[in-house]
Amino acid sequence: MNRRNFLKTGAATAAVLAGIPMLTTGCRTSLRSRLMEKQPSPNIPGLSADGYRILHYASLAPSGHNAQPWFVRIDAPDHWTIGLDPDRRLSVVDSNNTEALLSIGAFLENLVQAAAAHGYQAHATIPAKDHFNPDGNPDVVSLGLEKIQPKEMDLHRLTSRRTVKSHLSDRQLTPEDVSAFSHLTDGHLFYFAKGTAHADHMAEQAVANYIIQMKNSSAVREMAEWTRLKDTAIKEHRDGLTPAGMEIQGLAGWYVRHFMDQADVTKKTFVEKGIEKTRHQTRQGAGWLVITGEGNTVADLIASGRRFQRMALEARNRMIAIHPMSQTLEETRGQQHITKNHGPGTIPHFMLRVGYLDKYPDPVSIRRPVEWFIRT
Ligand SMILES: Cc1cc2nc3c(=O)[nH]c(=O)nc-3n(C[C@H](O)[C@H](O)[C@H](O)COP(=O)(O)O)c2cc1C
Repeated sequence: MNRRNFLKTGAATAAVLAGIPMLTTGCRTSLRSRLMEKQPSPNIPGLSADGYRILHYASLAPSGHNAQPWFVRIDAPDHWTIGLDPDRRLSVVDSNNTEALLSIGAFLENLVQAAAAHGYQAHATIPAKDHFNPDGNPDVVSLGLEKIQPKEMDLHRLTSRRTVKSHLSDRQLTPEDVSAFSHLTDGHLFYFAKGTAHADHMAEQAVANYIIQMKNSSAVREMAEWTRLKDTAIKEHRDGLTPAGMEIQGLAGWYVRHFMDQADVTKKTFVEKGIEKTRHQTRQGAGWLVITGEGNTVADLIASGRRFQRMALEARNRMIAIHPMSQTLEETRGQQHITKNHGPGTIPHFMLRVGYLDKYPDPVSIRRPVEWFIRT
């Protein structure tokens, strides 16, 4: 055993022996609340204090690998542009920017809701026609802000929503909940209840395509690059997949935070644990939701991202966990299966595990402060 492994094993043994104190450390106040509850004073030309707050709410949107692929340019106090940051693309698992654009759609939905609460109607147009390519124009959404009477909006949903992957009940979704979700997604929603052949098939595909992905060293490396294990890395980058976000809890979380680094994420043990966890997750919950799109243009993807986020915010109030599992949509084999089962007319944009929760956990994944994603 080399010195590093000896130290790792020694530390793990010490942690097991110490037991309870280490577990308590795992339950400490989340780094997210410690870092993000402080409201820095805005000092951005053309951006008012309200504008800053609106963009903060927008940034709480979910995104693939928590890459937060957006930037915002303040063209004028009442005109902003949202763009896709080329340095935040997931060029392996999301080579055509589908997920990045869906994430920007979720960002836009948060922005529109927060703007209404602060007395602004946000008018969005989508000038981008093609999926952004690294050499092309990264601008995606053009936004005009019109002053209106502030609207009553439930912004608590924006700050308390999160991706939830554990403790999903197997109880089927009620017709009322499905109907509310269907309404919020403009009818672009399908629910496959646990125990149906289709739900089983989706679970199998999620595991099979996760395994395919984990055999692709480029995809594993990309995941590792977006993994932030230590608190220092989390504070430095304020993005990516953290142990808390990956729901690696208790002793395992403590060990990962203190003794593992990005290189360990590509190793067999971590990859195998991930496959085991994925398999376990797919067995739990009320089944699957699929959100489909009308097409695959930039505007279609932004619209789907907005529908997804409207539903995810309502799910938070209804104590329903939403867990995107995108690997089937990312892999060619997965896409072929979908086409075979549904025909080419069906365009799924989101595959989501779903299930009731007894307790909705606090958000843990971290975000960049507004000033980090503003471009002048
Ligand atoms: C388009 C999109 C795809 C995603 N795909 C996955 C996925 O395949 N697996 C997963 O565990 N989470 C997935 N997520 C969830 C993100 O990892 C999560 O939103 C991000 O880490 C931020 O955490 P939060 O949602 O708790 O704020 C996806 C989110 C979006 C918007």
